[in-house]
Amino acid sequence: MDPAQPTPGDAMPRAAECLRAARKVVVFTGAGASAESGIPTFRDDSGLWREFPPELFATWRGLLHIGASRPETLARFLIAVLDPVARAVPNPGHRAIAELEAHKPVTVITQNIDGLHQDAGSTTVHEIHGTLLEIVGRQGRFIRVLSRQDLQNIVTQLQQIVEGRIVAIRLLRAIRPLAGAGLGGWHRPNVVLFEDRMAEPAWTNAEAAARDCDCFLSVGTSGSVYPAAILPDTARSNGAAVITVGPDAPGGELHLQGPAGLLLPRLLRLAFPA
Ligand code: OAD
Repeated sequence: MDPAQPTPGDAMPRAAECLRAARKVVVFTGAGASAESGIPTFRDDSGLWREFPPELFATWRGLLHIGASRPETLARFLIAVLDPVARAVPNPGHRAIAELEAHKPVTVITQNIDGLHQDAGSTTVHEIHGTLLEIVGRQGRFIRVLSRQDLQNIVTQLQQIVEGRIVAIRLLRAIRPLAGAGLGGWHRPNVVLFEDRMAEPAWTNAEAAARDCDCFLSVGTSGSVYPAAILPDTARSNGAAVITVGPDAPGGELHLQGPAGLLLPRLLRLAFPA
């Protein structure tokens, strides 16, 4: 047998056929889709929640409490979140998802807050957990865009603080472009934390897209956070085939096991040869 050819029963050709035959495709992504861009996931061995448990760091209340009682710890957490996003560029997985639009109508639904799908060229992206690259005020009122350079500047300030003596006032000053209070009221990044409502209209649009696709490609998510994790079932119960991509052992019926940055370009080439 030619080792270059997929073995019978291999999920890759079946997944390629599913994409080829699809009328509408949804790509649903989690932290694993950005892992090869250098952004840590949440629940893997080197994931963010290992060092910074979500019970303390995934709510606004928890973050305020940490900031008041342990400002140095909050500074370290913010560096861990902001620095990788400030430096990130799309990886081959993001680019393959964007290229898929040349062949099929594609809706991207992402739990990620890093803006990398848009940077790769995807045009319809529903950020159901919001985005780090936007600042909002009361009731989600848009205030301004935050660039990766802005994030990098905040990280530089935070690093100086962590090296020196930590006082809350220096921390507040360093993160002022990101979050704080002033004469115009408070402002913060447009991200969804635990206990928050899902970002709108992204969530309503995401549910509608999941109901209306016939191929649902789930990439790099542990499926452990609801309501986002309901979307593959929504698609399946409306007749879509669900393909999963990631290094974990197969859980679903059509699983491509391995890193997204390797497998998605391969899937695209197989489905739509040049
Ligand atoms: P998790 O950290 O829970 O899961 C990441 C998944 O990506 C795991 O299944 C990994 O095996 C997989 N993975 C790792 N490297 C990969 C690679 N190179 N290619 C493909 N897959 C890879 O992250 P999410 O499922 O995104 O929400 O977590 C969902 C939500 O939990 C996040 O949006 C965040 C977090 O708490 C909020 O904070 C509201």
